[in-house]
Amino acid sequence: MSERVAFEDVSVIYPGMAEAALSHVNLEVEEGEFLVLVGPSGCGKSTFLRALAGLEAVSTGRIMIGDRDVTRVPAKDRDIAMVFQNYALYPHMTVAQNMGFALNIAKIPRAEIARRVREAAELLDLTNYLDRKPKALSGGQRQRVAMGRAIVREPQVFLMDEPLSNLDAQLRVQTRTQIATLQRRLGTTTVYVTHDQVEAMTMGDRVVILKDGVVQQVDTPDNLYRHPVNAFVAGFIGSPSMNLIEARVTGNTADIQGFALPLPREVVDTAHAGRVIVGCRPEELQLTDTGIPMTVQLVESLGADSFVYGVVDTIAGPTTVITRTHPADKPALGSSVHVTPRQAHFFSCEGDRPRL
Ligand SMILES: Nc1ncnc2c1ncn2[C@@H]1O[C@H](COP(=O)(O)OP(=O)(O)OP(=O)(O)O)[C@@H](O)[C@H]1O
Ligand SMILES: [Mg+2]
Repeated sequence: MSERVAFEDVSVIYPGMAEAALSHVNLEVEEGEFLVLVGPSGCGKSTFLRALAGLEAVSTGRIMIGDRDVTRVPAKDRDIAMVFQNYALYPHMTVAQNMGFALNIAKIPRAEIARRVREAAELLDLTNYLDRKPKALSGGQRQRVAMGRAIVREPQVFLMDEPLSNLDAQLRVQTRTQIATLQRRLGTTTVYVTHDQVEAMTMGDRVVILKDGVVQQVDTPDNLYRHPVNAFVAGFIGSPSMNLIEARVTGNTADIQGFALPLPREVVDTAHAGRVIVGCRPEELQLTDTGIPMTVQLVESLGADSFVYGVVDTIAGPTTVITRTHPADKPALGSSVHVTPRQAHFFSCEGDRPRL
């Protein structure tokens, strides 16, 4: 039922465009996996889904579903169901009719349609709403009907393009848990697109980070957080973001305003133009008596801990640096303090392309 998906050197260049919307993507989605695609607006997320669904032609490479090369297979023959960002339910049809619509078109026998709709409704907690019209449903319920339309098709692969973007913040959190649970129960290979890194980190078995059509990193949420391969991934995952401080390489250390941070040998050897980016998550920095000088700009108390925002003068100019501290540590605004990394990541200044 569920199948693996593979992109082999897939590029998509839209007609008349100079830049590829997707560039040489190599990626395997395992059978039954929940893979999340995340990245800023315009990075190629929808293009990826549309290429996989057969709605966009690829310029190079091939797409496999199971052992089948589907690169030239029309969308309707790919056995994929997609939930779009702006799902439109038919207003004059009931929930049950909306859910069964595609099956009707496909001339599936009535009894079979009724069975699938009933089962999907049960999974989605919509059993009591089957006879209602969409206008008599809440936003979350409508969203679940849109999911139901995909589920009844019992596809080999589900594609979801920001399906929660129409919901308010609280409902998003609730629904994202439901979708993740449902996917695990169904065990259908799923590619889920979002621009929200929290959604990506909480839902995915693995997460793909895309930027400008290029895959930056594919890994488990934990590994992405702990071992980002470049400064872009480092800054994209985590909230507040990882601090990225550009520093001069002096001997075997990174020099930040007179503070010397020891560098691993390979970082010294590969530093580009004598510079390196030092990455430190807010929780990896601490306020200390000596260290990197910082001017305090803002203190944000969140109860259990607080964030001290400050400015550090770096070789790239004034840089905002955020430190997580105990709420009792409340340096005055405008005061001069020092921060010291407990732990650091190092990135090349050369750009965001992952090291190959
Ligand atoms: N039909 C098209 N013709 C030409 N260029 C397109 C077309 N569709 C998308 N693009 C371009 O391709 C790139 C990738 O678009 P895509 O829709 O895949 O981004 P996205 O990551 O889904 O963004 P968002 O988060 O805003 O939905 C963008 O630069 C976009 O402008
Ligand atoms: Mg999109």
